[in-house]
Amino acid sequence: MRLAVLKERRPAETRVAATPETVRKLAGLGLSVVVEAGAGERAGIPDAAFREAGAEIAPDFAAALAGAGIVLKIRAPLAAGEGEADELAAIPRGALLIGELRADEAAARAYAERGIDACAMELLPRITRAQSMDILSSQANLAGYRAVIEAAAAYDKVFPMLMTAAGTVPAANVFVMGAGVAGLQAIATARRLGGRVSATDVRPAAKEEIKSLGAAFVGYEDEESRAAQTAGGYAKAMSPEFLRRQAEVVAGHIAKQDIVVCTALVQGRKAPTLVTEEMVASMKPGSVIVDIAADAGGNCALTRPGEAITTGNGVRILGHSNWPGRVPAAASSLFARNLLTFLSTFWDKEARAPKLPEGDEIVKGVLLTRGGAVIHPSFAPARAA
Ligand code: NAI
Repeated sequence: MRLAVLKERRPAETRVAATPETVRKLAGLGLSVVVEAGAGERAGIPDAAFREAGAEIAPDFAAALAGAGIVLKIRAPLAAGEGEADELAAIPRGALLIGELRADEAAARAYAERGIDACAMELLPRITRAQSMDILSSQANLAGYRAVIEAAAAYDKVFPMLMTAAGTVPAANVFVMGAGVAGLQAIATARRLGGRVSATDVRPAAKEEIKSLGAAFVGYEDEESRAAQTAGGYAKAMSPEFLRRQAEVVAGHIAKQDIVVCTALVQGRKAPTLVTEEMVASMKPGSVIVDIAADAGGNCALTRPGEAITTGNGVRILGHSNWPGRVPAAASSLFARNLLTFLSTFWDKEARAPKLPEGDEIVKGVLLTRGGAVIHPSFAPARAA
């Protein structure tokens, strides 16, 4: 069976869904791996490294996809009219497509119509068995790290307290909003750099995690926040009343911060607005807001997704897209391992082909389409009813 790895063509996408390490292991499963020329370029992986690992290099996406039974992608393949190439049309019928597809109902229908069995890995259930396949966790971890590194670079003072012969430089105050995977890594990274770190979240479990990393908890708690975690481990969308009270508690704190790292997300919705225009106006010139939630609309009201701006009062707001893509080599390496683990977990050694049992919790979570039909309940509401 042939497995194709394509070059990512979406804007700001620097990652690649396989590395020489995973190519070797995929070949070990009995797969013939074909990598599109230039696929690893932006992640620092030359074609020669893929070739040495046993992959065939195809000159373009169509050649890579010809005869493929499995396609690995970071982001969804481009469809007609979406960009320079119609990758979707070149995927053979019956192929298994695996990546962070971020599909809507129309995209799921398009996969079904083309006979592609599509796995949207961002829908993986948050269960122990699935941890090593969890692309959201692996990528969020790196995003949290990178956000703090970029904040430190954009800040015109320093993170640690420095006691020098010329006098003392105070430590930076760093406030992390949202203490999930990215936020906890941001706390740890900011602490390692010597910042004075505090953090907030709405899920009760997050409060203990914040404290266990040596940061102070700043936040509002009530009955609503005590029930703020869904069965899947995510935060619920909070009521306007809760968000108002939370804003009252954090507003005074934000005015004293040098760095604010925004990571708060609510699955399937626009990111909550936690830093208002007034809060930004209360911050000192030279302060930095890093908004990892930018791609989901941002936690700061003034964030411009995909851009870095400086406000009239001199606050820098970094709203870059694709934060994990800003550490492309590390992000590709973890993403590629996540996909490899998924494939090896559902691998039929005798048939040398993937086998996705319908009753399996992980398969039920990620599989959008099978045999020409949309089967995922979130994308086929009529069937789920
Ligand atoms: P996420 O990326 O969906 O959200 C980031 C953070 O924002 C979350 O901690 C969330 O509570 C917080 N948030 C949402 N609304 C907020 C608001 N209004 N104010 C402040 N904070 C707000 O979450 P992520 O990072 O994907 O993980 C959430 C949790 O899932 C983890 O902390 C962990 O407990 C669990 N998890 C479990 C895994 C497993 O068992 N396989 C793997 C990864 C995460």
